[in-house]
Amino acid sequence: MHYIKIQIKKAESMKTLLLRNALLDRARKVIHSTSYVYFPVISITGAKTKKLIESASGAIIDRKGPMRASTMDYKRRLSAVLDANEMKELTSGYDLLGNIAVIDVSQKLAKKEAVIAKAILSSNKSITTVIAKAGAVSGIYRVRRFRYIAGKRTYIATYRENGSVFVFDVRKAFFSNRLSYERSRVSALVHPKERVAVPFAGVGPFAIEIAKAHPDAEIIAMELNKDACDSMVKNIKLNRTGNVKAYCGDVKRLAKKHAYWADRVVMPTPKTSMDFLDEALILSKSISTIHIYLFCAADGGIQKAKDEIKAHALANSYSVRFNNVRVVRPYSKDEIEIVMDYRIRKKK
Ligand SMILES: C[S@@+](CC[C@H](N)C(=O)[O-])C[C@H]1O[C@@H](n2cnc3c(N)ncnc32)[C@H](O)[C@@H]1O
Repeated sequence: MHYIKIQIKKAESMKTLLLRNALLDRARKVIHSTSYVYFPVISITGAKTKKLIESASGAIIDRKGPMRASTMDYKRRLSAVLDANEMKELTSGYDLLGNIAVIDVSQKLAKKEAVIAKAILSSNKSITTVIAKAGAVSGIYRVRRFRYIAGKRTYIATYRENGSVFVFDVRKAFFSNRLSYERSRVSALVHPKERVAVPFAGVGPFAIEIAKAHPDAEIIAMELNKDACDSMVKNIKLNRTGNVKAYCGDVKRLAKKHAYWADRVVMPTPKTSMDFLDEALILSKSISTIHIYLFCAADGGIQKAKDEIKAHALANSYSVRFNNVRVVRPYSKDEIEIVMDYRIRKKK
């Protein structure tokens, strides 16, 4: 198993780097010795990633290490009912959306879904329901189908993140717990009294977390999917974030009603964000910061996206300065999800 060995004094910045690049393995414990910290990481194969870690003074090593208590319990319970090959097949754990655990098992393990679900339910008392992915995220609303497997028959998740709570039907609205770090990162960048626009708001996580951290900020959140938008309205009440105004509808139409409004625009729709560069500019004041999420080719995709954003801004008489580009997560074999933070300024 891979670990990053790093001197204690450099551990905090290494942790940030690993989180930013979605490399930390959350199923295993971080190990501390007198002089070093050992961070468990997902398997590191790419030369670029190796270079990144080494340039931050980390050494990639192979060693054994303990699992986190809940993972160990879940794995131990499973090893009693699955054979060694089946255990190997079960490479990933499960996604946790509050009370609901979501599993994604291969065809080979389909018959074992029920025993896997039972192990999950008995290893973590806060999980009431286990469901399985039954398709890919698809369509304009970015939703997916699920199958009920075990426990209480519900698809309503109550999920807590960064001090906020979100209630939503997992079948009817997009939600990813993997964006939790991004939500706290973007929220930390917001200045007092800013106006923040979140088109593509889903059930409201970006908007509500920013609003909670910045009660003097004004936030507008737009969402096309009626079910997601209705949940967002309820979540705004639940979190008592009266500084968020929700608008149910199409950003193409709503942006024009809020032209030149925002100091900051958050665009969390990685599949289609590049189709909405016009709307990002329409929503922005003459100087504004934009956070755009997008899928791109792991090889050369970042530069291509930068060039496209720059060309679009220049054509509309804006200058662009890129402040930060980070890999949010690997998306497919050849693609990654990235976020780019950039500042635009209208030319005089
Ligand atoms: C990837 S989801 C992001 C949801 C949310 N921001 C989050 O982080 O959980 C993209 C969202 O954009 C919404 N959407 C897609 N096209 C839209 C449009 N033209 N106007 C407003 N919302 C749109 C979808 O319904 C979906 O909820």
